[in-house]
Amino acid sequence: MLRFSEAGNGPAVVLLHGFPLNRSIWDRQMADLSRRYRVIAPDLPGLGQSAPLKDESAASTLGLGRAVVELLDHLGVDRFALAGHSMGGYVALAMQQSLPERITGLALVCSQAGADSPEAREGRFTLAEKVRQEGAEVVADAMLPKLFGPEITPEHPAYGQVFAMMRATSVEGIRGALFAMARRFNMIPRLPAIGVPTLVLAGEKDSIIPLERAEMMAANLATGLLVKLPCGHMPMLEAPEATSQALERWLELAL
Ligand code: MLT
Repeated sequence: MLRFSEAGNGPAVVLLHGFPLNRSIWDRQMADLSRRYRVIAPDLPGLGQSAPLKDESAASTLGLGRAVVELLDHLGVDRFALAGHSMGGYVALAMQQSLPERITGLALVCSQAGADSPEAREGRFTLAEKVRQEGAEVVADAMLPKLFGPEITPEHPAYGQVFAMMRATSVEGIRGALFAMARRFNMIPRLPAIGVPTLVLAGEKDSIIPLERAEMMAANLATGLLVKLPCGHMPMLEAPEATSQALERWLELAL
């Protein structure tokens, strides 16, 4: 079973973290949203405190989503609003496809709906091999310079927080997440059929997932709401209050 944090009562909202992070990125949003809602934030398989999948090389976004559903079943949560950051958004989209009747709203935070280009996919396999040989630190070295907007310098507490999170991640967890992301499907053609309120929350200075991809995703959603914040790839840490407010406005519609 996945490890998780939970706070509050009321309709349920589930927060999925991105790569290679853990549920603690949502601490501020848990505190804010739990005033009105039951907030559940799991660590995805192999990340944070959750055990890795048995065979990480077979990981898929659907498989990661299945682990989340198993946890929600265990907690007695039937219907819920689902927010995912970046890779968490890929998992959320896979869950929406397999369980549309249980998901009352979607929030895609600095995420995208397309699949990897062949070069990006190859890059993930190369990184997975490098991580196997050299350890988790290579991912921190590759990602940290691109993760935040220019206001967050290495002296900022969020920088150290994320660096520590990445370094503490298991090699199996990182590899599983990389394989799952590499294998994900192109969900763009499926966006127009999503019938629930869907927030697209984007960082204007996101250099991991460019703003245009969020704009394109929102344009393909019949029930989409686009919110742009002046930050990089980590709005929940870079602009915590505005992130909570955007999620609260979305939850008014989604729950
Ligand atoms: C993430 O932030 O979850 C990942 O960097 C997304 C990705 O690599 O596609």
